[in-house]
Amino acid sequence: MKPPSGQGVRLAYLLLSLAAPSLPSPLWKDRDSLMQQEKAHQTGGNLVLSRQEQQLSTKLVNLKKKEVETAITTGQFPPSMHFFRAKSLIDQSKVFSILKRMPKGAVLHLHDFAMLSVGWLVFNASYLPDCYICFTAAGSVRFRFSRPRPPPAPRCSPWLLLDTYRRQLSDVAEFDRGLLRNLTLVTDTPELAYPSQAFIWKRFEEVFLIASGLICYAPVFKAYFYQGLLELYEDNIQYVEIRAILPAVYELDGTKHDKSWSVAAYQEVTRQFVKEHPDFVGAKIIFAAHRMLNVSQIKEDIITAMALRARFPDTLAGFDLVGDEDKGHSLWELKDALTIPYSMGVNLPYFFHAGETDWQGTSVDNNVLDALLLNTSRIGHGLALIKHPVAKNLSLKRDIPVEVCPISNQVLLLVADLRSHPAADLMAEGHPIVISPDDPPIFGAKGVSYDFYEVFMAIGGMNADLRTLKQLALNSIKYSAMLPDEKAKAKELWQKKWDQFVADLSDNVLREL
Ligand SMILES: *[C@@H]1O[C@H](CO)[C@@H](O)[C@H](O)[C@H]1NC(C)=O
Ligand SMILES: *[C@@H]1O[C@H](CO)[C@@H](O)[C@H](O)[C@H]1NC(C)=O
Ligand SMILES: *[C@@H]1O[C@H](CO)[C@@H](O)[C@H](O)[C@H]1NC(C)=O
Ligand SMILES: *[C@@H]1O[C@H](CO)[C@@H](O)[C@H](O)[C@H]1NC(C)=O
Ligand SMILES: *[C@@H]1O[C@H](CO)[C@@H](O)[C@H](O)[C@H]1NC(C)=O
Ligand SMILES: [Zn+2]
Repeated sequence: MKPPSGQGVRLAYLLLSLAAPSLPSPLWKDRDSLMQQEKAHQTGGNLVLSRQEQQLSTKLVNLKKKEVETAITTGQFPPSMHFFRAKSLIDQSKVFSILKRMPKGAVLHLHDFAMLSVGWLVFNASYLPDCYICFTAAGSVRFRFSRPRPPPAPRCSPWLLLDTYRRQLSDVAEFDRGLLRNLTLVTDTPELAYPSQAFIWKRFEEVFLIASGLICYAPVFKAYFYQGLLELYEDNIQYVEIRAILPAVYELDGTKHDKSWSVAAYQEVTRQFVKEHPDFVGAKIIFAAHRMLNVSQIKEDIITAMALRARFPDTLAGFDLVGDEDKGHSLWELKDALTIPYSMGVNLPYFFHAGETDWQGTSVDNNVLDALLLNTSRIGHGLALIKHPVAKNLSLKRDIPVEVCPISNQVLLLVADLRSHPAADLMAEGHPIVISPDDPPIFGAKGVSYDFYEVFMAIGGMNADLRTLKQLALNSIKYSAMLPDEKAKAKELWQKKWDQFVADLSDNVLREL
């Protein structure tokens, strides 16, 4: 038979579409139910909202749609842009203003020296008496509080008393702006400033080094933590877990304190803060060693961690390894140290950073599996998890959440457009996750609201609604290291704030629109 000519096909199509405009085709018979199944899988997909929550959810999703429409018109969608350029746009977003007000529960991945906006370090801490500064050849600085003058710092100019130095400057404001720049990664031209992951990690660790001179001075150490808790509290966060490296905190005369002193200080400041802010639940510390250390040094730190946990069972939640994962030792290389608690029958919970890498198939890339085999309680970042189906099955089965830190991952060059963040897969299939900010001040962010914005607008896609956000807040409490009674209390406190938030916003948003 002769195949139908182009003309013939067109004619047949025309006849078909005229004859049966809405013919129920067997091709689509399962479409609705399949779509429902997919929706049920996603983060929060099984939550049932109250009528008031449902109304707020609809308004919030409509606001999102409007902002996305605008973004398509202007060609500027903040989650697709580098955060340093997106931030001023996010600050104007209505969705963002609602996320700021939302009670977000717990922040479970945040670092000790990156809790608080750097303005406080420059304008408050560095203006305290007896603060010295020195300048490195690479255009960086070091700080040290001391009386008398501190001993010379290696590879740095002679120490200058900041008070005296500032007095002979013609433009102190410009000098202080320079100090602010030293303490963050923020720049107008991130692509030029940070050409590679290895490069930005060097600068990132330099920032911690600069900040530590200020923060490790005992009075500043306590004040920084208090102000840090305050900044989180003001971002509507109810509880926090801090990765802390517990370096020696020093006094004016050079006396150095041990790690116990630091944990006791964290505990004391937390208690004081909770006393003054009864609607904040508290803080716990995860002792974090640097993954560049060798196995015998990590062994020592594991022993220290077990001792600290025995001494501060309510405050010291467990152990982690920090630093550039690609450059540091893999968990496998450190296994003789990391299996000590297990072989001694001691419970030392792990909260490993794992899979913060793009290098698939390297020894470091296997950290996600090894973290699970070492019984980690959560996986920090876990970007590599979606490339490891067996490991991912294990984390699903054991209900181990991934701590997703979108802005950190973007700034540290692991993912550019946050719509393509690997957590989009995890959210679509309802893998347990929590949202965290990692090091907000270093990225020019504050609290966790900016990360929630990226998740709500981009990683969760257009389908993310109030159920998604509520689930993420509930997850943060569920997967914290709080004890069952602490969790119950935190949940109750959060629920009260949530109900208030929904009530307030239903009214306001309805009136606004
Ligand atoms: C920080 O310093 C500024 C300016 O001196 C002052 O207004 C502010 O109260 C200080 N903040 C804290 C928390 O000490
Ligand atoms: C660090 O601060 C000093 C003093 O303001 C400034 O000269 C220098 O450029 C800053 N370095 C960086 C990397 O911003
Ligand atoms: C680990 O590092 C320490 C300090 O640099 C060194 O003294 C020790 O010999 C190293 N141990 C091993 C096993 O490499
Ligand atoms: C695994 O971790 C959980 C929670 O920290 C703990 O209860 C359990 O004993 C650990 N199991 C092993 C084998 O380490
Ligand atoms: C993951 O688990 C599912 C369900 O238990 C199973 O069907 C699948 O084969 C597993 N995938 C892998 C890669 O192990
Ligand atoms: Zn981290």
